[in-house]
Amino acid sequence: VSGIAYVNGLFLPIEEARVSVEDRGFQFADGVYEVLRTYNGKIFAMEEHLQRLARSLDAVEIKNAPSSLMLADIIRDGLHRSQCKEAVIYLQITRGVAPRKRDFPKHVEPTVVMTVRELEPLPDEIRERGLRTITMPDNRWGRCDIKSTALLANVLAYNKARAAGVDDAIFVGADGFVSEATAGNVFVFDGTRLNTPPSGPRILSGITREKMLKLAPELRIPAREAEISVETLKKAHEIFVTSTTIECVSVVQVDDAVIGTGKPGALAMRLREEFLKRVCET
Ligand SMILES: Cc1ncc(COP(=O)(O)O)c(C=O)c1O
Repeated sequence: VSGIAYVNGLFLPIEEARVSVEDRGFQFADGVYEVLRTYNGKIFAMEEHLQRLARSLDAVEIKNAPSSLMLADIIRDGLHRSQCKEAVIYLQITRGVAPRKRDFPKHVEPTVVMTVRELEPLPDEIRERGLRTITMPDNRWGRCDIKSTALLANVLAYNKARAAGVDDAIFVGADGFVSEATAGNVFVFDGTRLNTPPSGPRILSGITREKMLKLAPELRIPAREAEISVETLKKAHEIFVTSTTIECVSVVQVDDAVIGTGKPGALAMRLREEFLKRVCET
């Protein structure tokens, strides 16, 4: 099987890769991460991902992590060794290994972990029927712009949605405004333009979200960052979710509300098509 892990300078089979029980990633979720992917074996938007990782590291004050240039080399090396046809690359950096105390440990090297494995694309059946979702209170912390490994709230919300028989949850803040899905950004077409919640501490500003915000106007689809109320969400002509692994996929149901015709919308389809066209050209 293809796939490989990397731990602090060493490549090894994923099943054999280990970190210490005293790793602060394990003890405190004291770490940040990125997920990258390839198209035709080429790493997509590596610079953007590494820039965001640098911002996350900076925000949580993890110092002396490998530079973006070094990380790019590790990623390329891992991809090559993995022999994956189409890969998903998971990269995590934690504050390192130290006795479990809240103090930032001194003289500790960050732990760098990566896995490279075969990408499992979203099944066509799901893409073609669209996602069914429920709304859920956004009970995450106040810094969702940091790509922290602390994803328990996301995991709980996702599993609550699955247990309710739907595909995902859409988080809604106490003020009634939509933030994002459990692993992706939300776009809403209100009949006139595309709206996506503004970047800021309440969302992870997705690389795919950025690409879609640029792409839409090129296709003469007005797009902007704007707050989206639950009411607007449920009355939407079209909704889609974006992320690195799924690109953009339509949402056809939110709680009891059927979105548009109840089938994936034309805009999401068009944007994905053009997105993929541009990916192949670069
Ligand atoms: C909470 C959350 N928001 C948004 C995204 C989308 O980010 P990107 O497009 O950079 O993959 C993700 C990615 O998994 C995520 O976990």
